[in-house]
Amino acid sequence: MPVNSRQIVLARRPEGAPQVDDFAMRSAALDAPGADEVLVRNLWLSLDPYMRLAMSDQGGLHGTVPLGAPLPGGAVGEVIASASAELPAGSLVLSMAHGWRDHYLAPASQLQALSSEAGPIQRFLGLYGLTGITAWGGIHGVLKPQPGETLFVGAAAGAVGSVAVQLAKRAGARVIASAGSDAKCAWVTGTLGADYAINYRHENLAARLADLAPNGLAAAFDNVGGEQLEILIDAMARRGRIALCGAIALYDGANYRAGPRNLFAAIEKHVSLTGFNAGFYFAEAPRIIADLATAEAEGALINEETIIGGLEAMPQGFIDLLTGASRGKILVRI
Ligand SMILES: NC(=O)c1ccc[n+]([C@@H]2O[C@H](COP(=O)([O-])OP(=O)(O)OC[C@H]3O[C@@H](n4cnc5c(N)ncnc54)[C@H](OP(=O)(O)O)[C@@H]3O)[C@@H](O)[C@H]2O)c1
Repeated sequence: MPVNSRQIVLARRPEGAPQVDDFAMRSAALDAPGADEVLVRNLWLSLDPYMRLAMSDQGGLHGTVPLGAPLPGGAVGEVIASASAELPAGSLVLSMAHGWRDHYLAPASQLQALSSEAGPIQRFLGLYGLTGITAWGGIHGVLKPQPGETLFVGAAAGAVGSVAVQLAKRAGARVIASAGSDAKCAWVTGTLGADYAINYRHENLAARLADLAPNGLAAAFDNVGGEQLEILIDAMARRGRIALCGAIALYDGANYRAGPRNLFAAIEKHVSLTGFNAGFYFAEAPRIIADLATAEAEGALINEETIIGGLEAMPQGFIDLLTGASRGKILVRI
């Protein structure tokens, strides 16, 4: 019997900050699975800043979503009908391409089977998935902080930033974080354990960094890009290391791939800027996930989730993610 899939499609390309009207809901009838296919009912959907990039037509790693097409994205779901021996009905699966919808058909070979033994399955969209692996890669793969070093984390109350702060503290770093409200800053210091937090919207970030790190930053985890990255380059110590994780400050603009205007300061100070993405660490995922899951189970790592309900709420949830209304990893429960 055909199943009706409700999907959110891109109705028009956002100009600047996305609006709810940039999205539309549509329905599509799905047939029974063909050979080696499965029919999946999504349980959890992910919202991530990179999705904004695919809504533009600037190209890049995440491509361009055609107008009228359902948006891709991470999803955790349950197989409800199967023509695949590998994924029988009842299997829990992760897809990175079939988010923003409640049901989909896909070849079993495109999906990853999940076990709920590690922890709640939505974690595979956050702490055990894209965002946790990104934080781990930036801290342990790129920056490798030494005890006592001063390390900066931007967007520190967000999904990646909140884990990066805690991993840096576990490595013995002195952590200076920034976030966009006093409440977030209080949470980043009081709950996550950062040594200092700067409200970049109301404080002068450059002046505060000069005050808190008079000898310069040894390391910085850059989630923001744009002017914040320029401030960080100026604030780095000699031989400082910057992990380039994202540039959310640029995603609504005409050229999110633009570089900092003061790059020459990196030459003057022997500063390294290392770009990376989670994909470079997927091969190590089982070890990383085990480390993060153990730390969470032992109470040594706080996993924060902002959960919103239903597909209808997803466009506004995405807008809230970009504007900073959420804390930790934002997830949609269907
Ligand atoms: N390289 C990779 O593989 C990879 C993987 C995942 C994510 N990322 C990147 O990592 C960054 C964080 O992603 P996430 O998933 O953890 O999202 P997130 O931090 O949970 O959410 C985004 C946050 O960015 C902050 N923000 C928005 N505009 C800003 C601006 N102009 N200046 C400063 N802060 C701003 C907001 O927090 P405030 O309230 O603090 O403003 C917002 O909550 C993004 O740049 C993302 O693209 C990279």
